[in-house]
Amino acid sequence: MKTSGGTYFRTGIRLAFAPAVISGVFSAMISLIWLDNPVHSVLLGIGAALVVFILVYLHAYRLLNYRLQEIQSIIQRTPARLTNSNPPEKQHVIDEVHGLLLDAEWNRATITREFQKMDETDSYRKEFIGDISHELKTPIFSVQGYLETLLDGALNDPEVNQLFLAKAMKNVNRLIFLTNDLMEISRLETGELKPEFSVIPLNNIIHDAIDSLQYKADQRNVKISFEDKETNAFALADRNQIRQVLVNLIENAIKYNKPDGKVFVSTRFNEHDRSKIVVSVRDTGIGIEPDDAKRVTERFYRVDKSRSREQGGTGLGLSIVKHILESHHEQLTIESKPGSGSLFRFTLKSADYHSDLISV
Ligand SMILES: Nc1ncnc2c1ncn2[C@@H]1O[C@H](COP(=O)(O)OP(=O)(O)OP(=O)(O)O)[C@@H](O)[C@H]1O
Ligand SMILES: [Mg+2]
Repeated sequence: MKTSGGTYFRTGIRLAFAPAVISGVFSAMISLIWLDNPVHSVLLGIGAALVVFILVYLHAYRLLNYRLQEIQSIIQRTPARLTNSNPPEKQHVIDEVHGLLLDAEWNRATITREFQKMDETDSYRKEFIGDISHELKTPIFSVQGYLETLLDGALNDPEVNQLFLAKAMKNVNRLIFLTNDLMEISRLETGELKPEFSVIPLNNIIHDAIDSLQYKADQRNVKISFEDKETNAFALADRNQIRQVLVNLIENAIKYNKPDGKVFVSTRFNEHDRSKIVVSVRDTGIGIEPDDAKRVTERFYRVDKSRSREQGGTGLGLSIVKHILESHHEQLTIESKPGSGSLFRFTLKSADYHSDLISV
């Protein structure tokens, strides 16, 4: 039987051992009384033990071997085995039944883990759907409210009609942003949106991202400065996706800043590993509490919902950042001091060291 117990049918050996010893001893003792010859009695005892051992072994083999193999093949075909790529750890196996017990225990643990994961995914999915409908409802009801008021007569009131139309338009724009972000997240999560690696001039992209957000910074009187000491920072990454990461981080640094606040963007080579470029976005803003910092990359998570919503935020920006960086096999790190500011940092592969990846 090719179980985890080995090539011999060890269960049979273990089953046959005790009856063989007992019958051997008995036969030897009884024959000693009758024959009064110790040598013959010992030989008879050994013979009886061997016969009983073989008989019990063969009987156990016939009765159990096939069934145990069947049970093992059932265990091997369970979803736990088929879906889990990590085989159970090698352990000392006493016999086939012990091997099956270990296998069954491993399956039980794997299945329990999978069920826990499924439960988590399910509650996450329910929460996600609840969040989406809530986020969609707010701007849709606003648009409906403004349009109804306009239809009820406000359309002819020159004092409010432009204002209500502008507010309805703002909410429509919010819906457009929300659906775009949701589509992007689902494409990133399903792996549909894969990064297209090429050599990208990081500093140009940062300047470009800052330029596109300058008007927002000016509105809030926030000053953005970029320390591009590493003039030669060419990274191997997806240009559009990294631009999006930068825009999301810099936009947050502006939005969650204090009046007259500052944003510092910088690039430098990692001093311990020059194959990596470290990109940082630091602000002097409101900061994030440690418990919130752990959760800000979750979909729809906002520390201060009303502040974020007021700024047109839906809580998807950092989630998109996280997914993009993960698809680049990189990570976002967050350091923050409530009341003083935050530092968001990630690394990218330097093009000088990773040119082999360009054809990916
Ligand atoms: N630089 C920052 N300083 C302080 N809080 C921040 C900063 N960046 C993010 N946050 C907090 O993390 C939350 C999540 O950020 P995220 O970018 O995902 O969403 P958002 O900015 O609210 O909306 P969106 O980016 O979708 O427009 C924010 O609502 C805010 O509370
Ligand atoms: Mg944001």
